[in-house]
Amino acid sequence: MNDKKVSRREFLKIAGIGLAATAFTCSGLGYAATRQPQIELPDLSLEKENAMKKVLVAYSTRAGSTAEIAATIGQTLSQRGFSVDVLPVKKQPNPADYQAVILGSPIRMGSWLPEMVSFIKENRSLLEKLPLALFTVHMLNGGDDEQSRTNRQAYLNAVREWVTHAEEVYFLGKMELAKLSFLDRFISNAMKAKDEDLRDWNAIQTFAGSVFNEG
Ligand SMILES: Cc1cc2nc3c(=O)[nH]c(=O)nc-3n(C[C@H](O)[C@H](O)[C@H](O)COP(=O)(O)O)c2cc1C
Repeated sequence: MNDKKVSRREFLKIAGIGLAATAFTCSGLGYAATRQPQIELPDLSLEKENAMKKVLVAYSTRAGSTAEIAATIGQTLSQRGFSVDVLPVKKQPNPADYQAVILGSPIRMGSWLPEMVSFIKENRSLLEKLPLALFTVHMLNGGDDEQSRTNRQAYLNAVREWVTHAEEVYFLGKMELAKLSFLDRFISNAMKAKDEDLRDWNAIQTFAGSVFNEG
């Protein structure tokens, strides 16, 4: 999946695979097919005395690569003097406990994971009042050309229905087939995806080194 852009034909193919996957999930084998291999979910509280701000870094993930990016962002923010909590969004952190929020999700079939979109929808009135940054982790549409930019920006269409003031950043992610559920591996194999780690730790640290910089 180390692509350039997803063509219309590829989108139709993805939609077709999605339908096949849905039929499979509904066929009674759903639980086994979607059961996720166990992955580590970082849950960090990086306290700083006299911190200027307390920042929440909340993430969703399936195979763990977004969680590792969230942890790195949290550590860099902590080095900058912020108090930071890095938490899986499934823990339902309360944005009211923070002065700034970073939310991150991988892309699956063209969208942020549903639990993160639900979190944003449920907390939108709190999030609207806070400095907010969103990081997206993806494998396709990573190019510098206009079409790739347009395609990756469309990944956040459902999110922008609920928050509009956020800074947005996009990071290339990682495919690790052994960490996927049977169903995700089935889809990935159909897409001819292979194991690869495209994460650019310099880009991730550069973002974390400057986000919420008021100076
Ligand atoms: C089933 C499946 C569907 C995916 N769909 C997309 C997609 O539509 N667009 C894209 O850019 N990346 C897509 N990806 C790539 C993931 O966003 C990428 O592997 C990400 O790093 C996974 O994050 P995680 O390890 O936190 O789950 C897909 C990956 C899988 C396994």
